[in-house]
Amino acid sequence: MDIRLIGAPLQIGAGQLGCEMGPSAYRIAGLTRALEDLGHRVVDTGNVTPAPLKEFSHPNPAVHHLAETVAWTEALTDAAYRESASAVPIFLGGDHAISAGTVAGMARRVAESGRPFFVLWLDAHTDCHTLETTRSGNLHGTPVAYFSGRDGFAGYFPPLSHAVPEENIGMIGIRSVDPAERAALEKSGITVHDMRSIDEHGVAVLLRAFLAKVQAANGLLHVSLDVDFLEPSIAPAVGTTVPGGATFREAHLVMEMLHDSGLVCSLDLVELNPFLDERGRTATLMVDLAASLMGKRVMDRPTRAG
Ligand code: ARG
Ligand code: MN
Ligand code: MN
Ligand code: MN
Repeated sequence: MDIRLIGAPLQIGAGQLGCEMGPSAYRIAGLTRALEDLGHRVVDTGNVTPAPLKEFSHPNPAVHHLAETVAWTEALTDAAYRESASAVPIFLGGDHAISAGTVAGMARRVAESGRPFFVLWLDAHTDCHTLETTRSGNLHGTPVAYFSGRDGFAGYFPPLSHAVPEENIGMIGIRSVDPAERAALEKSGITVHDMRSIDEHGVAVLLRAFLAKVQAANGLLHVSLDVDFLEPSIAPAVGTTVPGGATFREAHLVMEMLHDSGLVCSLDLVELNPFLDERGRTATLMVDLAASLMGKRVMDRPTRAG
């Protein structure tokens, strides 16, 4: 398979600085090599440069770094569309605000194929605030509202060529939802599986049902993996840890099932903050999860000495 790595060193969407170092950490942790070892052809396209800044102010005084986020969204929408013409793009975040652009660009790409477009959001958070409802003003909490076509982004963010229908969005791992997000989700068609749902049913059951829906529609699937989907004790390098996340095996199982489905067209790796990491272990785990999604199996893992 042809894979393109696309660095998206955006950090001002998060409340804490450091995600800017994410793309470097994935490269240093050996992402290219891990994918090549699976037989893929990998091209690292380097890092995206944001579009020129336009000045904006928003009536919600909490909102910060709107102009920068919009500039990145523009550039990433273009990059996602361009690099997905004949390859599977992997977007190296960067905070989760990058997904406003990566998903918008992929939606445009997949629309050309005539197949419906689906998004799997693996996250502790639902990131479905609008510019009006966010209280932190951290725009990594807003990409889902943007790419699903909710109101209030027009005049700020680039117009969407193809909004993602709410019915085509599935979320797994959720355990931190703000009141305004909860209210929006109750009225929406988004499928939300919180951690309790994983506890009760097992993640395989939930994911199998979602994949069956994508398959039945002959769809293509974008996967957005936030580091905080994972249990913080195995993945400390994120500014928004929430206890009780997916375990090592749950996360790998999700990736392995996604691989077997053959439905994945693109992947975001987001929210890695290397400044908060412990000897690179979170970056290494994220690389290993990406490898599982791209075909690495349990039986391919040699015993490590020592
Ligand atoms: N809901 C909170 C907020 O809007 C947290 C968002 C965390 N998002 C993330 N991509 N880590 O501030
Ligand atoms: Mn600023
Ligand atoms: Mn997120
Ligand atoms: Mn999150």
